[in-house]
Amino acid sequence: MFKAILLNKSAGGFEAKLTELDDGLLPEGDVTVRVDYSTVNYKDGLAIADKSPVVRKWPMVPGIDLAGTVESSDASEFAVGSRVVLNGWGVGETHWGGLAQKARLKSSWLIPLPGSMTTRQAMSIGTAGYTAMLCVLALEKHGITPEQGEILVTGAAGGVGSFAVALLAARGFKVVASTRRLTEESYLKGLGATELIDAATLAVQGKPLGRERWAGRSIQWAVIRWPMRVRQ
Ligand SMILES: NC(=O)c1ccc[n+]([C@@H]2O[C@H](COP(=O)([O-])OP(=O)(O)OC[C@H]3O[C@@H](n4cnc5c(N)ncnc54)[C@H](OP(=O)(O)O)[C@@H]3O)[C@@H](O)[C@H]2O)c1
Repeated sequence: MFKAILLNKSAGGFEAKLTELDDGLLPEGDVTVRVDYSTVNYKDGLAIADKSPVVRKWPMVPGIDLAGTVESSDASEFAVGSRVVLNGWGVGETHWGGLAQKARLKSSWLIPLPGSMTTRQAMSIGTAGYTAMLCVLALEKHGITPEQGEILVTGAAGGVGSFAVALLAARGFKVVASTRRLTEESYLKGLGATELIDAATLAVQGKPLGRERWAGRSIQWAVIRWPMRVRQ
């Protein structure tokens, strides 16, 4: 038996409850994970409050990410006792997710956790940090380097944005943080931003790859991938 948050929808309406479930009810998968930590992502909030059609299958255990320890495995790459992290893959939407003590998952969805990182740290980074890193990797894939000039992070004080600021600064980029919350200056500079700009000043029509004048500077907008644009 394991504890889980269970969401259900039937003719009687929507129900969200903390309950105990039998291991035999776990969905199909080749790895069973004892969940140490998950996060309450925005999507999970919507799912638990039945605010948006996040959940595609009922009943559902929410939780779009998790970090934990392999309890049983039919996958040679994940031995019992190894630590894993999972983000996304429809978990918490179409497949039972991380807001439970146990999850059964496809091994192809799992990432081995490096020895230096705890499962708690992995979920402190969560899906917001994971998303920011995917954006940074996409920038690098497109050949964007610190030598090419400053890099602009929009929504900088938000979840994904603040991770993006820290990750880019750590990789040597000069990060300009666009925010509506200029009061967060010390927080954003502490993460590595060199300059803050008021998000309102960016509320002008821009053309992808077009040259614009902005705040007296010539900007080359190179749209890479949401939520970041680069200026040179
Ligand atoms: N969190 C995730 O796991 C995840 C995963 C994949 C995709 N996403 C997507 O990434 C985006 C950001 O998610 P998040 O979790 O970082 O959300 P968040 O914490 O709410 O941050 C969003 C930020 O966007 C800025 N913003 C919001 N409304 C704005 C407006 N009207 N004008 C200008 N700026 C505005 C704000 O930045 P300031 O506070 O600096 O003004 C806000 O903090 C969302 O579109 C989300 O769907 C998130």
